[in-house]
Amino acid sequence: MTKHEHGKKRKRPRNRGPNKLEKGAHQKETKNDGDKEGVPSAKRRNLQESSKASSFLDKMREKLSGGHFRMLNEKLYTCTGKEALDYFQEDPSLFDMYHAGYRKQMSNWPEQPVNVIISWLKKQSPSLIVADFGCGDAHIAKSVKNTVFSLDLVSNDPKIIACDMSSTPLASSSVDVAVFCLSLMGTNYSSYVEEASRVLKPCGWLLIAEVKSRFDPINGGADPEKFAKAISALGFQPVKQDSSNKMFIIFYFKKKNKQNAEGKEIEWPMLKPCLYKRR
Ligand SMILES: C[S@@+](CC[C@H](N)C(=O)[O-])C[C@H]1O[C@@H](n2cnc3c(N)ncnc32)[C@H](O)[C@@H]1O
Repeated sequence: MTKHEHGKKRKRPRNRGPNKLEKGAHQKETKNDGDKEGVPSAKRRNLQESSKASSFLDKMREKLSGGHFRMLNEKLYTCTGKEALDYFQEDPSLFDMYHAGYRKQMSNWPEQPVNVIISWLKKQSPSLIVADFGCGDAHIAKSVKNTVFSLDLVSNDPKIIACDMSSTPLASSSVDVAVFCLSLMGTNYSSYVEEASRVLKPCGWLLIAEVKSRFDPINGGADPEKFAKAISALGFQPVKQDSSNKMFIIFYFKKKNKQNAEGKEIEWPMLKPCLYKRR
């Protein structure tokens, strides 16, 4: 650069502050800024406009996917397992959409029930065979040494068996632990528990984790004792009911040697759908 050219260019001081493009949006633009350096100012305005537009679009996308998640969630709680299977098999991308929303929703929970179940399983023998009814992304199978049959409506992993869990391909008396983690969603939920009873070996474990509000009789939820009574009538021994978590309850049952031999009609309490609010 010649001396002459050097003179022409205005040198910026060494310890200069941020230039216009570098300035944060919170720093006010003075009236003359645009006059002095018109091009960078316009560029900055364009940048601000486009970042405003993209954050608006991001917010809209988030609202839309939140809305889709709530709609799919409501659908699962208000239809039968067979209807849910047909619905998702027709468009499996809806299943991914549901799970993306579900993961987001669960990220607000201080503790995930599936992790409590995994910790429990890790304290048992790794030789126990597990069936995870409504496995979602098969977190249990990925976390324990046991053989786990992961069952859900859609399979996007070769290890997940796609089926309606009221009718699984598992053999009778073939598993030691049946898990339902937030998955008693269908209006015919009792048929899922009956299926678990079929595939469980005598003395096998039945673990059910559910959202606490579904078992809050004061607010329209089921009475947990009536629920436990219905499961007992099917042929299970209640072992423990863990209500220590603010968000969920976990029931632990053991299958009796003798099943509901009397064939008595079981009174299953209605389980209130767990609908998520708009945030
Ligand atoms: C709330 S998610 C919980 C997923 C997983 N258990 C967890 O705790 O992360 C419930 C899952 O149950 C599945 N599900 C609901 N009804 C079902 C049915 N009839 N047959 C198979 N899976 C079902 C849903 O597709 C969903 O993946």
